[in-house]
Amino acid sequence: MTIETMGSEALARIAAADDAAALESLRVEFLGKQGSVSALLKTLGKMSPEDRQVEGPKIHALRESVQNALAERKAALDAAALAQKLAAETLDLTLPAPEVPQGSVHPVSQVMDELAEIFADMGFAVATGPEIEDDWHNFTALNMPESHPARAMHDTFYLPDEAPGGGRMVLRTHTSPVQVRSMKAQGAPIRIIAPGRVYRSDSDATHTPMFHQVEGLVIGEGIHLGHLKWTLETFLKAFFEREDIVLRLRPSYFPFTEPSVEVDVGFAIESGSDGKDRRVLGGSGDEPGHGWMELLGSGMVNRRVIEMSGLDPDKCQGFAFGVGVDRLAMLKYGMDDLRAFFDGDVRWLRHYGFSHLDQPTLSAGVGARA
Ligand code: PHE
Repeated sequence: MTIETMGSEALARIAAADDAAALESLRVEFLGKQGSVSALLKTLGKMSPEDRQVEGPKIHALRESVQNALAERKAALDAAALAQKLAAETLDLTLPAPEVPQGSVHPVSQVMDELAEIFADMGFAVATGPEIEDDWHNFTALNMPESHPARAMHDTFYLPDEAPGGGRMVLRTHTSPVQVRSMKAQGAPIRIIAPGRVYRSDSDATHTPMFHQVEGLVIGEGIHLGHLKWTLETFLKAFFEREDIVLRLRPSYFPFTEPSVEVDVGFAIESGSDGKDRRVLGGSGDEPGHGWMELLGSGMVNRRVIEMSGLDPDKCQGFAFGVGVDRLAMLKYGMDDLRAFFDGDVRWLRHYGFSHLDQPTLSAGVGARA
């Protein structure tokens, strides 16, 4: 075979190689250690100087053209592979965006988050207790022994099970048992809020058999009624996002507080654009056109309760309060039927619900609407 035919044959086969592996085996066949072109180069050493002068340039030219052809074919194959990859990996930017997540945060959850945020800023931790409670924690330890008339006012749901410590297990009628559980578990000092579900056998537009309360409890040395009033004022101003919240403390009675105070908040009557009058919180209820609305129960923790919770009432005192979370939500966000809270009607939830992105924070506001 002449060098020329060897060359043209090699170039033809290189041009026909259709992938990187085929090209590589051709490179080995021609230019590898045992390759045919390499073998030709080795013959140069044994040639006479005259022959070498004739054959040398031809053999070197052959090697060069094979090398060039291999490089060219490789570049062509690489370019084709890239083009194919680009064509296969297109991203269709006209596709619709993924659907926004459905659902909303229930106003009760939102308000509970708001409460936690506000009270955390005042140094309160969040505590919880069981919804299925024993008689002792729900009543007796709160200074309501078995024959106490206040028990009758609680419309209690009783469970068939007997409770440790006497009586029956109940669905807790208020969050106050968490007071007792916190004092027993952590001793003094204490600063907690305890939000959660409570149950009473009662049902109309403003009462549902299950509703939500938040309990507040502060225990320490020298705690007095002034601390209670400041705490409630600071909380309600932050919660309703207005400085003109005015409170009125009225003497009242709860077995577990002494003295007990019922807290009213001043409101003004404004006529809405729909012609209906609305109560708007703010200002003193004694001004003309204003009134007082009962908001929550509170008082200094009864020393008997402190004692039954294992603490020494001569060493530590405290205050407690309890307020309806659903009621707070209704007042702040303008719903008027409590039953709708628990109907699970998606239209109501869509209207009154909050975006999961709308996290209450003191800096951004604890009441931003979705
Ligand atoms: N537990 C009371 C209720 O449910 C509210 C309350 C809590 C009153 C704490 C005083 C102190 O009505």
